[in-house]
Amino acid sequence: MEAIEALLTRRSIRKFTDQPVTDEHVDTILKAAMYAPSAGNTQPWHFVVVRDRELLDMVPEFHPYARMILQSPVAILVCGDRDLQKFDGFWIQDCSAATENLLLAVHGLGLGAVWLGVHPRPERIEGARKLFDLPDNILPLSLIPIGYPDESKPDPERFKPERVHLNKW
Ligand SMILES: Cc1cc2nc3c(=O)[nH]c(=O)nc-3n(C[C@H](O)[C@H](O)[C@H](O)COP(=O)(O)O)c2cc1C
Repeated sequence: MEAIEALLTRRSIRKFTDQPVTDEHVDTILKAAMYAPSAGNTQPWHFVVVRDRELLDMVPEFHPYARMILQSPVAILVCGDRDLQKFDGFWIQDCSAATENLLLAVHGLGLGAVWLGVHPRPERIEGARKLFDLPDNILPLSLIPIGYPDESKPDPERFKPERVHLNKW
């Protein structure tokens, strides 16, 4: 898939078929995530690949907008590592860039996914920390349920020329 087409046609997918996602696809997705830009090229991320059905089914207990995860065969938790940071606080942008790369790779492979926000909601951070045994230096940013799409979404028009400012505001 061509890059611009992939960017413009990616949509959040919240309904999934029963078809499993192969380890090979998960590796491709993780590789794409790890090629994201990061401040000072610190790459301060970790990824928890969750396939355990019991763990996936427990996510809605701490995340109010995550019920689609009950259907997804796999999810990836994108985390920042406080100890790997060189520039304080930039782990959020770094892990967000990794998350977007991940979503685009998913789409390019014909799979579907949705970004579930974890950071900065304390109850979601603590819920993820407990459920996935995260050490104290590990900060969960997003959780991404992934599967084969069981819905299709229209491509909305989002380009807003009035939001573009030439030279000065
Ligand atoms: C930081 C962030 C947090 C989000 N959290 C959730 C969420 O908790 N649950 C959900 O269903 N979608 C979540 N989304 C997905 C947005 O709802 C979605 O991206 C937006 O509606 C635009 O739709 P699109 O992704 O199809 O273009 C989140 C997206 C971002 C960037």
